[in-house]
Amino acid sequence: MAKHPIITPMEKMSFILTFCFLLSFIVLSSNAEFAKKTYIIQMDNSAKPDIFSNHQEWYTSKVKSVVYKSLEADEIDNNIEDRIIYNYNTAFQGMAAKLSQEEAKKLENEDGVVAIFPDTKYQLHTTRSPSFLGLEPIIQTKNNFSKKLVDDHDVIVGVLDTGVWPESESFSDIGMKPVPSHWKGACETGRGFRKHHCNNKIIGARIFYHGYEAATGKIDEQADFKSPRDQDGHGTHTAATVAGSPVHGANLLGYASGTARGMAPNARIAAYKVCWSGGCFSSDILSAVDRAVADGVNVLSISLGGGVSSYYRDSLSVASFGAMEKGVFVSCSAGNAGPDPVSLTNVSPWITTVGASTMDRDFPADVSLGNGRKITGTSLYKGKTMLSVNKQYPLVYMGGNSTSPDPRSLCLEGTLDRRAVAGKIVICDRGISPRVQKGQVVKSAGGVGMILTNTAANGEELVADCHLLPAIAIGEKEGKEIKQYVLTNKKATATLAFLNTRLGITPSPIVAAFSSRGPNFLTLEILKPDIVAPGVNILAAWSGVTGPSSLPTDRRRVKFNILSGTSMSCPHVSGIAAMIKSKHPEWSPAAIKSAIMTTAYVHDNTIKPLKDASSDEPSTPYDHGAGHINPRKALEPGLVYDIKPQDYFEFLCTQKLTPTELGVFAKNSKRVCRNTFASAGDLNYPAISVVFPEKASTSEMTIHRTVTNVGPDVSKYHVIVTPFKGSVVKVEPDTLNFTRKYEKLSYKVTFKATTRLSEPEFGGLVWKDGVHKVRSPIVITYLPPI
Ligand SMILES: *[C@@H]1O[C@H](CO)[C@@H](O)[C@H](O)[C@H]1NC(C)=O
Ligand SMILES: *[C@@H]1O[C@H](CO)[C@@H](O)[C@H](O)[C@H]1NC(C)=O
Ligand SMILES: *[C@@H]1O[C@H](CO)[C@@H](O)[C@H](O)[C@H]1NC(C)=O
Repeated sequence: MAKHPIITPMEKMSFILTFCFLLSFIVLSSNAEFAKKTYIIQMDNSAKPDIFSNHQEWYTSKVKSVVYKSLEADEIDNNIEDRIIYNYNTAFQGMAAKLSQEEAKKLENEDGVVAIFPDTKYQLHTTRSPSFLGLEPIIQTKNNFSKKLVDDHDVIVGVLDTGVWPESESFSDIGMKPVPSHWKGACETGRGFRKHHCNNKIIGARIFYHGYEAATGKIDEQADFKSPRDQDGHGTHTAATVAGSPVHGANLLGYASGTARGMAPNARIAAYKVCWSGGCFSSDILSAVDRAVADGVNVLSISLGGGVSSYYRDSLSVASFGAMEKGVFVSCSAGNAGPDPVSLTNVSPWITTVGASTMDRDFPADVSLGNGRKITGTSLYKGKTMLSVNKQYPLVYMGGNSTSPDPRSLCLEGTLDRRAVAGKIVICDRGISPRVQKGQVVKSAGGVGMILTNTAANGEELVADCHLLPAIAIGEKEGKEIKQYVLTNKKATATLAFLNTRLGITPSPIVAAFSSRGPNFLTLEILKPDIVAPGVNILAAWSGVTGPSSLPTDRRRVKFNILSGTSMSCPHVSGIAAMIKSKHPEWSPAAIKSAIMTTAYVHDNTIKPLKDASSDEPSTPYDHGAGHINPRKALEPGLVYDIKPQDYFEFLCTQKLTPTELGVFAKNSKRVCRNTFASAGDLNYPAISVVFPEKASTSEMTIHRTVTNVGPDVSKYHVIVTPFKGSVVKVEPDTLNFTRKYEKLSYKVTFKATTRLSEPEFGGLVWKDGVHKVRSPIVITYLPPI
């Protein structure tokens, strides 16, 4: 299985998660003797023989037929109860069951069994950079798309995450109408979560843990609430970003307060808790998607990812296909494995894949060196212990000579000598352990401050953290300068000053260095990511039992926290999709996605091309997809590229899947390939990615698109295409004259390669009617001829 790891560097994960991964690993190995694992078994419901009165009965008989042939009948029955941990029947048909490898193999050959996947672990897509400040996403402060603009009362967003902290003011239901009558969800109760914790904002809350317990043992009730209550904070943060009610004076530790609110403040939230302190498992995620679709959600927000293997083996891809068929919009985080290329997860075309970008605010902090030099970095430190700006403190760095160890291992637990650091400011290199934890180590050893310097891996991208002692993050280049100063001065000194929030930062937005990058590992013709949205230093509601740094030693409690990651950008898009859905309830998930993509912009606030933080160069569609989300425009896109469920299936038919693999999506064998697409490039996607194959003779490629008029009845559009160096691009026809709303018109684009360039070329195609600009990014890839 060709999979790329989404194992983020340790420091990107919270200490708690890291710790518990280790824990679950130990539990797993001690269970090894039973050698049973959870498998997700997809069934073809149409193959059920009539002797079974329902599907569950049939599934049970299937499992019975492969397990414990030697046991007595009643023992088998008891045993089967424990073996089947889920039945699925909405977005996905089948079950999850605990089986030995041998049993799974036997089951795979049974009639009616479509596919079997082993349960796999997913991760939350956050780089935890807890910090200080009342920071709202740029789109909240710049635009006023409030209640007047859209009335989104009856849109329901399901959030698959770590649960919610219901007491947060962001979940206040003041002014909200009663729960819509079509809602079929439930408010499940447990430790710390009662019926009254659901209201007209949080209208549903459910938990999914059977897969987790099968893999790691019983949930530790001390470390986790076995209820929808959020121990971690991540789920509270993402749910509030989607649809949190406005909270005035929201802030972190008293710093610059502002109004925090979700993208769709009138939408409803249904929390599906699938992640526990030791991770999130695909059988639980699958069950949650299935349940959420049956409950009646309109949008699913999933800030999680596993590896990318294939369309049919990735249960999030399979489950979201089922959700899409039922008209549910699914947005997922792209992953935090950037800036490496080909680092995306969640790349299926029916998913909206969201990357992360910065906003126009930051949190500067100054390092003033004894030699008079002042260097600006970033920090969200706020505490009783401040350094005097009128005094200089001794500055030390333990690395930098040939006998010293890997600089990234400096400032790890137990590596600092109190005699060497007490009363001093300590320079630590980023890496290996969480950033805030390095500060904790310096503090415990008696240090008075920390300068955290980037290594080549992080370049100049700075992440602001809610440190436990005065500490400032500095980029690689200036970090080197500070180290040089220390290594050449026996009496090096410095002081640190914290400057609060700065607004109007230019340029912004910028694509975050950590945001996962294309191209799409599975299908070059489907450009991914789809879009970027704010995902750096996002303020939103937080859990009441976890400190802002997520370190167990952090006793601070805050109502709001600032986090970074594609986990934070995904719920922005989910909330904006909810807004569009409320304005245009009849639109399909593909139409909503098209509206979001074709109205995105690719320039920053200095009117220059959107930049990439990792290189300081202009970013490409492999970094930003269609560009930066533009919510107001997305409400009225003019034209949409619509896609029906059968079209997505036709796309899969171009992907060289076996009939069995296709069967995973065909469900009940109802869908068959009609082979309407010449290639994957013919999927009516709002982005265009053309791949010239290795065959040297192929120098001309044609793709087809169809647009639906969602603007005024009579609309005349003309096309503009950017020039390319290696190809001549022709659009036919070059005008589209609509006479009524919802009319569909088609066009074709012909690419004639004149020079096979070694690098992909990027550009765009725009349909304009004088009001709307309907833009599709274009990527042309020239594979070297054999
Ligand atoms: C946003 O709305 C508020 C209240 O309706 C108004 O005072 C303010 O001027 C608006 N801001 C913008 C940028 O339109
Ligand atoms: C090099 O670094 C080590 C460990 O940080 C330190 O003990 C040693 O004194 C340093 N050597 C020189 C020549 O500075
Ligand atoms: C659309 O209308 C314009 C004149 O308004 C005309 O020149 C053009 O040929 C028409 N396009 C098509 C495809 O009919």
